[in-house]
Amino acid sequence: MCGIVGYIGNKSVVDILLDGLKQLEYRGYDSSGIAVRCPDKIKVYKAVGKLENLSAELMPHRSEISSATIGIGHIRWATHGAPTALNAHPHTCNCGNLVLVHNGIIENYKELREKLTALGCVFKTQTDTEVVAHLVARKYAETKDLTEAVRMATKEIEGAYALCVLHNDEKDKLVATKRNAPLLVGIGEGEYFVASDVPAIIKHTKKAMYLADNQIVTLTRNSMKLIDENGTELSQKVEVLPWEPVALSKMGFKHFMLKEIHEQPDVIRNILVGRMHSCDEPVVLNEVNLTKETLKNLNRIQIIACGTSLHAAMIGKYIIENFCGIPVDVEASSEYIYRKTVTDSHTLVIGVSQSGETADTLTAIKQSKAKGSHILIITNRPDSAMAREADSLLSVNAGIEVSVAATKSYIAQLVSFYLLAMYMAEIKGSLAESDLKSLKAELMQVPQKIEQILSNKEQIQHCAKVYANTKDFIYIARGINFPTALEGALKLKEISYINATGYPAGELKHGPIAMLDNTMPVLSILMKGSVYEKLLSNSEEAKARDARMIALTNSKDEKLKDLFENIIEVPDVQELLSPIIAMIPLQLLAYYIAEFLGKDVDQPRNLAKSVTVE
Ligand code: G6P
Repeated sequence: MCGIVGYIGNKSVVDILLDGLKQLEYRGYDSSGIAVRCPDKIKVYKAVGKLENLSAELMPHRSEISSATIGIGHIRWATHGAPTALNAHPHTCNCGNLVLVHNGIIENYKELREKLTALGCVFKTQTDTEVVAHLVARKYAETKDLTEAVRMATKEIEGAYALCVLHNDEKDKLVATKRNAPLLVGIGEGEYFVASDVPAIIKHTKKAMYLADNQIVTLTRNSMKLIDENGTELSQKVEVLPWEPVALSKMGFKHFMLKEIHEQPDVIRNILVGRMHSCDEPVVLNEVNLTKETLKNLNRIQIIACGTSLHAAMIGKYIIENFCGIPVDVEASSEYIYRKTVTDSHTLVIGVSQSGETADTLTAIKQSKAKGSHILIITNRPDSAMAREADSLLSVNAGIEVSVAATKSYIAQLVSFYLLAMYMAEIKGSLAESDLKSLKAELMQVPQKIEQILSNKEQIQHCAKVYANTKDFIYIARGINFPTALEGALKLKEISYINATGYPAGELKHGPIAMLDNTMPVLSILMKGSVYEKLLSNSEEAKARDARMIALTNSKDEKLKDLFENIIEVPDVQELLSPIIAMIPLQLLAYYIAEFLGKDVDQPRNLAKSVTVE
């Protein structure tokens, strides 16, 4: 979390920094700040809340800083210390000469803080970052060399960091380094950019160098020097970024989330292009290197993910076990990394992540890689840290997702799991030809079915109005759609702050049923198939406790009208593919409730799209 940018060159730096931070808003947006080198000294400006507050804060100072051509900036997602102006970055040492921005967590900040306080440093903030400012400043006092000061300081720091540092006495210099947090340097003509991610620099240059852990880069207007933690100079691996600048536009939609929901039919078509030609041809996954031999040697699959990706992983388990007959475990990455896991070269480990940089998933992947497992990454960022760890890569090609609540990246992950499971089933010969054919035929129809839902949103908007003022919301489902219930509830929680929970419907009677009364909406994801009748009985049990029943269904059964006060109908689809179809109305329901309540749909409170701290 948090985004950092830096610039050294000949252009006016303020707008470069502000625009870079705008592109990194998905990493956090609770406060922001910039530091710019003015002729007399480095000046720091900060603001709490959205980036526009920083722009407003800068307004009266524009004329005095417009000629500055060196600067650093930060957009924050608070970890240590509340999102206040004081805790916002950039941070400085006591004399204000040393100024830096940081993304990550300094794990030994308490020990460092005590040590530095004993040496006379006075702490002004509650952040972990401030220790780094004091530490680098002290090293600078010894060495009078900013690069060396950063190098020495990072030897004492434990944890994760990407840092961008300026010093009043080094007029034409910017130093940056990283460990377990992303950072790249953009290379222009007589100018350099530093950023947490590509969107912050791509409009200026496509030439870039990704920093590896513990590398330190020293930039002047005309030079770039790269060293390792021992001070040894390294050769620079400059690459051309396979990116085009994209103007992020809502295309007439009120929010990015609504736009991204509407993009889903095309996202699916995109994933299928070149991978599924027809019902009669095998699935083509060029970057997946799973041979018959590898699959024969596998005794299980572990899927690791967080948040929405974890729900896609749970559906992935269902599909892979069903199509391939291989046992699959799914686990939240944050749980996986702090226990003794049983993983070896006979385990296929699948990491799922839209961003490809979620810290817990990245750590989990590295741990299993060290134990010899084949690592397959499903991600929307083929250039990400996780992708770089992959033995096999499945890029979901969903395009940039701006809204913090994931929608199209989730549907793209689901479709990727269908392709992967069919691909493995074809290699293993574990699924009947006729089943494969019918799955492929129907998967190709799914985009049109989603379009039908998107062109008929009135019933969902109606439900949103009816239930918008509820305090709680329960989603129930069984079988392959239990994760859909979890994801539906998560979407509602994230953007409306309503306390929503997904349950496997059979569990309702083991506790949650005690909460039911005539104020509680219970939405039943009632898709035709193996558990339809069972779920119908569970819905009856909830109705008998007076709950306000809603059905999301592809059944035309007239009897449902007696049981449910509202019915959201979706196009018919076979059970195995129903999680894709069922999810669309749940995304829309969450969206319209949040919109009705006037919430900040695209940037909900307390969240960030990319979570780079454990
Ligand atoms: C954050 C986002 C979620 C996302 C989760 C995992 O919490 O707000 O939308 O599902 O991280 O992110 P990943 O990039 O690994 O899928």
